[in-house]
Amino acid sequence: MILLKTEEQIDGIRKSCKLLAQLFESLDGKITAGMSTWEIDQKCHDFIVKHGGKPAFLHYEGFPATACVSINEEVIHGIPKRKRIVKDGDIVSVDLGINLNGYFSDSAWTYMVGNVAPEVQKLVKVTRECLYKGIGALDKPHCRIQDIGEAVYEHAHRNGFGVVREYCGHGVGLKVHEDPEIPNYVSRFSPNPRIREGMVIAIEPMINLGGDGIIDLSDGWTVVTADGKPAAHWEHTVAITSNGPEVLTQL
Ligand code: CO
Repeated sequence: MILLKTEEQIDGIRKSCKLLAQLFESLDGKITAGMSTWEIDQKCHDFIVKHGGKPAFLHYEGFPATACVSINEEVIHGIPKRKRIVKDGDIVSVDLGINLNGYFSDSAWTYMVGNVAPEVQKLVKVTRECLYKGIGALDKPHCRIQDIGEAVYEHAHRNGFGVVREYCGHGVGLKVHEDPEIPNYVSRFSPNPRIREGMVIAIEPMINLGGDGIIDLSDGWTVVTADGKPAAHWEHTVAITSNGPEVLTQL
C-alpha cells in the first residue's frame, strides 16, 4: 500500500532530508585514504545524534551500523569495520537514513578518494546522472513508476554500464522502506503505479562498471558485483508536492 503524505508530513520529512543533506555535504572531501569505514560510520552517527535525530538504519532488520559503507566492487550494504581501510583510488558509497521526529530520509553518495581511475570516475559521474535522469522522468505528464527506471536504465546502458536489478528504490518517509518498489529498469511483470501528489520516494540507481550480476555475501548484508568490477550508488529522497517533484535530500 502506497502511503500518500499530507503537506504537514512532507514538511517533517523535508526537515529530516535537509539534515541528511547537510551530513553528506559535510563528508565531501573528508573521506580520505587511511580512514576506516568504521570512522566514517562514527562521523555519521555523531552528526545525527548531535542534531537530535536517530540513525534510521541502525538495528533495522538487524543492520549493525548507522551507515552502509561500500567500497569499489561492494555495491550496497557494506558493514563498517575498524579494519576496513580506505585506500587512494577507492570509491566509497555511503548510504544512510535519518529518523527525525518520526520522519524518515534516505540518501546515498559515492565519494572518490584521491587518484581514481578515469573509467571509474566516469562510472561515478554517470551513476549520478542516472539519478537525475530518473528524477527528471517525474516531470513527464501521466508519469508512472517505471518511467523512472526506464530513464535510469537507458542512460546507464548508453554508457555501457551494468544495472543492478535485484535491489531497487522505494517509498520512504514514515518508515525506512515503504511501497512502491522502484526498479532501475523496466519490466512488464512489475507493478507500475501512477505518480501522484503526496508520494515520497527514494530513487537509487546502483550501476556497475561491468556486467549486471551481483552476489550477496555470506555476512548477510554486503552485496558485491559478480565480476569484481566497481559499482557506484547515488540516491535522493523526492516528494511529489502540489508544485511538482521536489528533491528533498539536497540543499
Ligand atoms: Co534507499
